[in-house]
Amino acid sequence: MKILIIAALQQEAKPIITELDLIETTPFDDVLPMRIFTNNSNPQITLVISGADLQHHVENVGTQAAAISALMAIKTFNPDLVINIGTAGGFKEKGAEIGDVYIATQAFYHHRRIPLPKYKAYGMGGYLCDTMPEITDKLNVKKGILSTGDSLDAQPCDLEIMKKHNAVIKDMEGASIVWVANLYKKPVLVMKSVTDFVDYPEENFQDFIKNLNLASHNLKDQVLQILSLLK
Ligand code: ADE
Repeated sequence: MKILIIAALQQEAKPIITELDLIETTPFDDVLPMRIFTNNSNPQITLVISGADLQHHVENVGTQAAAISALMAIKTFNPDLVINIGTAGGFKEKGAEIGDVYIATQAFYHHRRIPLPKYKAYGMGGYLCDTMPEITDKLNVKKGILSTGDSLDAQPCDLEIMKKHNAVIKDMEGASIVWVANLYKKPVLVMKSVTDFVDYPEENFQDFIKNLNLASHNLKDQVLQILSLLK
């Protein structure tokens, strides 16, 4: 069994890399910034992070790098399962707490507003993504609807769309990874841990930094749980 784990930030993936003794391996090519870590055991794990932006010297986040990571990794490694892990903002009013781990049941976008016939629904995505309930029902996670967008903050029109879709968590990659996994008919899970509250945005950025390690640690615990359930 081959499992592909996709994360944006190195720090989100670090506890998994350490715990599973993953070793960095040859990148996709000389151009793409993505970094690849792997092991040689069974199940075989390949973990891809987005790598650094050439111009701005920060790690790539958001849907464009995520889609390339997913495309290249699925084509290169032909995994049996794709798991997108990462951090998310949570809606406190819907019960999210800092450090909670969620499995997304459905992934919408909130930044793709296209008011043309049929394109409105296309823009919003709405992909189903709890593809392995026999596994995810046994995890110590919550489940809820995810909304993906390319901004860390949320403007009033984003909030309106997220509310309409009943989103409980908000990230910057999930829906685009599900879209690519669906193209290749790969089972996909999106697992996100909450670092800050979308509905209490005053301290978003400080909360994100403060809670990143806790969230990443909690994600690692659930990834290990998935691996043991798949044995
Ligand atoms: N990752 C962590 N917090 C987030 C937020 N508020 N929005 C999008 N992605 C996030």
